[in-house]
Formats: sequence, C-alpha cells, structure tokens
Amino acid sequence: MTILDFGARKKEGRKISMVTCYDSTFAKIIDGTDIDTILIGDSCSMVMHGEQTTIPATIEWMAEHTRSVRNGTGKFILADMPFLSTRRGIEHATECAGKLLQAGANAVKIEGVFGQEDVLRHLVMSGIPVMAHLGLTPQFYQAFGGHKMQGKTEEAAAKIKEEALLAQEIGCFSVLMECIPQAVASDITSSLSVATIGIGAGCGCDGQVLVLQDMLGMSGFKPKFVKQYMDGLSLMRGALNSYAAEVACGNFPSAEFISK
Ligand code: KIV
Repeated sequence: MTILDFGARKKEGRKISMVTCYDSTFAKIIDGTDIDTILIGDSCSMVMHGEQTTIPATIEWMAEHTRSVRNGTGKFILADMPFLSTRRGIEHATECAGKLLQAGANAVKIEGVFGQEDVLRHLVMSGIPVMAHLGLTPQFYQAFGGHKMQGKTEEAAAKIKEEALLAQEIGCFSVLMECIPQAVASDITSSLSVATIGIGAGCGCDGQVLVLQDMLGMSGFKPKFVKQYMDGLSLMRGALNSYAAEVACGNFPSAEFISK
C-alpha cells in the first residue's frame, strides 16, 4: 500500500485492515498475512511498557518501535506522534515526525486537528503523510476524565465532523475515528473523500484497526468492540506450562534436542 491506495480502496469499496504492532517478531508474522497496513500505536505504552495510559510514550520509544517493526515488514506502516509532540510548535513536531519517518514509517498519525492546524499543514507540505485521529483521542485521557466514548450528543458529533472535514482540507490522507457512535462515523465517512479507519466506531468506516494483542486474546482486555480471533492467553500459558512441567520432570531436553 501507499497513501494513494487508501483513497483508491475507499472508491472501490474495498475495506482496509489494520492492526497495531510494536516489534519485529510480530511484524514478520503480520508480513506473511493479508493485513493491509500496520500502526505503531502509542498504545505501546500500555501493551509493551505496562503503563496505564498512552501519555508516557516518548518520541524515542515510538522511533525504536517503528525501527523494530520496519525491520520485520515491507508493509505500509504508520507511527503515532506521542503526547504533546505536536503541541510544542512546528519545529518540534517536524523534528519528531522526521525521526519516525527516518525510523521507517511511511506516515504519521496525530491526535486532534483543532489548535494545531498550522503544524499539520506544515507536515503535509513537508512531504510527511498525516492521518488525523479523532473521537476518543487517548492522549486527552485527563481532559476527557478517562477513556470515554465521544460524539454522543448532536453538538459533539457535529464538532468531530467539522474536525474531520478540516483534516481533509489540510491534506490529511486519512482519518481514524475511535469510540464514537456508528451513525456518526458512517455520516463522516460518507462526507469525506479520504478513507476513514474505525475502532469502536461501527461498521460504516472504510477500514478497521484493532490492537494486535487484544484481537489475539493475549492482553485480557476485551471491550465490546474487540473481537478475539484466538485465545492467545490460554494457548501461550498452555505451552509455557508444558515446558515448565517437562523441565520439572526431566522430560526436556529429550534425546532429539541434545546435540552429540
Ligand atoms: O495507539 C493505538 O494503538 C491507536 C489505536 C487504538 C487506533 O491509536
């Protein structure tokens, strides 16, 4: 994929599949699948670093995870601009986005448009493809009072739509919408010519994204919008317990695993 394929897929009505990924082991696994594109989300803060929110993620973490993923895949990868990296002026944002592209990202994702239009415009004009992330923007955790569904009132929905149209006008190649009502996401999707990607935003978006460890059943995190495609926790714990039991009783290593 390239950024051009996002718009083309929308026109063709062919949905886009995206998962998060943070390391080269999983990137290699995903590389051999039909998944269209990968997001190095700042959810790495929770998934890989055990934090409670995305706020601790730094540009150094994001660049390292991006480099690791790039070393495992040739697919189109997007990297998240972390907390406040776009709110400290154009120069700082450009430096941060540059680090992500130099680490191997094809594009960056930025939470919010209002209040940082000049930054987004500058990045787009500098040849850095930008996806705008709207709705539940987890970097606003403190301002929202938690990870709460957004766009529930008519006024709030209209504001998200206005922000999405502004993102498109600025030149963002795609808009991601998180945890907003399906009707709002569908309306925004049909009002935009750029492709939308949804998470917890119903089935009307042009594509879907899920956090890899959630959809593989590895995290134990199971909100309503997450479908678990395997029971990763049971499978992996089962394998580890088999190993532990075999070591305990001396069955591993058996002859076939011992070099002469
Ligand atoms: O950081 C992340 O994983 C994300 C997705 C949930 C969209 O932004």
